[in-house]
Amino acid sequence: MIRVENLVKTYGQTVACNRVNCRFDDQKVTVILGGSGSGKSTLLRQITGLERPDSGSVFFDGLDLTKVSKSVLYEKRKKMGMLFQGSALFNSLNVFENIAFPLREHTKIADKVIRNIVTMKLEMVGLRGTEHLMPSQLSGGMMKRVGLARAIVMDPKVIFYDEPTSGLDPISTGVIGKLIKDLNTKLDITSVVVSHDIAASFKIADKIIILYYGDIIAQGTVDQIKNSADERIRQFVTGSPEGPIPFTRTDTNYVEALLSDMDKTAGNRQ
Ligand SMILES: Nc1ncnc2c1ncn2[C@@H]1O[C@H](COP(=O)(O)OP(=O)(O)O)[C@@H](O)[C@H]1O
Ligand SMILES: [Mg+2]
Repeated sequence: MIRVENLVKTYGQTVACNRVNCRFDDQKVTVILGGSGSGKSTLLRQITGLERPDSGSVFFDGLDLTKVSKSVLYEKRKKMGMLFQGSALFNSLNVFENIAFPLREHTKIADKVIRNIVTMKLEMVGLRGTEHLMPSQLSGGMMKRVGLARAIVMDPKVIFYDEPTSGLDPISTGVIGKLIKDLNTKLDITSVVVSHDIAASFKIADKIIILYYGDIIAQGTVDQIKNSADERIRQFVTGSPEGPIPFTRTDTNYVEALLSDMDKTAGNRQ
């Protein structure tokens, strides 16, 4: 359903996406896996039309989203749900208003109906009865689940998750992973998950795409990735510092990425 062709996105000297080609199949969970700074979030921003790429195409619903008008893009984006890194909840709004927000923004649905929709979505993420809580009263895992309820409130065809388990403890990570998988099945939805968590990704993915500094270095099923003979993939999967992929601390990209990851983790805890 979504096809990315020869997508290039640069920021100054940095080639964040380097002629990326990939496909996200209907009703499947595809995980884009890669270390910090490999271009995962950038790729998501291009696919969801939050940014325009330098060149290349993103086909969604039969249209190249990189070529359509703003109003067409706006319409298509209503079919996409997004769970951003760090959940991106509005701190001044309670759980109910956070989830209701897209409905109020994009539809004229009556308040009573909105109430029912929000209750139903909260139930789907296992947070029934939390409508009145403020984001500051939620744990990291709960915030992600509220973000998820908001992502599905408009009944999207596709959900994009940016690092849905980063900053979470192992139990919350398991809960979110199971939710992603369950929602994918129950709602017949297409799921695109960006992650650097290899173990969590293997549990939920129908297909894995591995990004390495803007290049796709592998695509396949979990078994194909696990059994790959390619040394770069083996190194990635086992997390080994020894191998063809350089993980030296003098690699400035690596250090920058590490620092930015630490910032993000700190942000998640706030
Ligand atoms: N808005 C931006 N301005 C400048 N550089 C950016 C911007 N967004 C991303 N980059 C750079 O592009 C590369 C890929 O970043 P990103 O997509 O955030 O990686 P990931 O999500 O895999 O950690 C990094 O080198 C990052 O510094
Ligand atoms: Mg990112």
